[in-house]
Amino acid sequence: MPRTRLFAANWKMHKTPAQASHFVRDFLPLISNHADREIVLFPPAICIPATVEAAKRSQLHVGAQNLCWEKAGAFTGEISAAMLVAAGCTHVIIGHSERRQYFGETDAMVNKKLKAALESRLTPILCVGEALQEREAGDTDDVLRRQCTEAFREISAVSAAKLAIAYEPVWAIGTGKTATPEMAAAAHETIRAEAADVFGNKFSKGLRILYGGSVRPDNAGELMAESEIDGALIGGASLEAKSLAAIVNS
Ligand code: PGA
Repeated sequence: MPRTRLFAANWKMHKTPAQASHFVRDFLPLISNHADREIVLFPPAICIPATVEAAKRSQLHVGAQNLCWEKAGAFTGEISAAMLVAAGCTHVIIGHSERRQYFGETDAMVNKKLKAALESRLTPILCVGEALQEREAGDTDDVLRRQCTEAFREISAVSAAKLAIAYEPVWAIGTGKTATPEMAAAAHETIRAEAADVFGNKFSKGLRILYGGSVRPDNAGELMAESEIDGALIGGASLEAKSLAAIVNS
C-alpha cells in the first residue's frame, strides 16, 4: 500500500489566534482536494482552538508543537496529550531540534512524550537529525540511529502504528540550506533500517518519513519526487498561505 503523503506546517512561535483563522480562510481555496495527502497545521498552542474552528469540515488537521508526558498535576506551563485531543488536535510534533537545543529536551524525555502521544492516539511526528559538526565528522548515521533507538524504547510495533518521523538535519533548519534529495534519501534509509530492527520489516515499509529543513515552493517538487520522502515538515515557508499551498500542491 502506498504511504499517504504528510505535509506538516510548523508555525513555531508565530501568529495570533486571529491570524491563524485568517490563514485557514486564505489557504483553503488555494489547495485542490487532495484525498491522497494529509495536511496538518501546527499553530502555537494558544491558537489551536481558533485553528480547529476555522478548519472545521475541511480536509485540514490540526496538531500541537509539543506536549507533556504527564497526564495531569503540578506541571506549570505544560499541556497534556488528553488536553490536546480535547481541543481537537490529531497530531503532535515531538523532539523538534529547537526543543532539544533551547529547552533541554533529552532523548529520554522524547521517549516519554512519544509514549504519552501514542497512548492518547495522537499521530506523533518524531523529529530526528544531525548537527553540522556531526555530519562533517561522519556521524550522521550513528546520531540518527541513537535518536531513534532511544525514542523507541519500550514501545511496541502495535502501539507505534501511527508514528511518523521527520528527518530534519539541524544545519538545514531555517538556514536556506536544504539537503539534496539523495542526502535525505540516504538518511531516510538509515531511519527505516532502524525502525525495521526495532519494529519489524512490515512496520518499517509503512512508516512515513518526512523531510524538513528549508523546504520551499522552489525545491519541494524535487524533494517530493524522491520515493523515500513521504512528505515535508515546513517551517518558514508555511507561514504564508500561498507558499504552503504551492508546496502541498507540488
Ligand atoms: P524551516 O523549518 O522550514 O524554516 O527550515 C523546518 C522545521 O524546523 O520544522
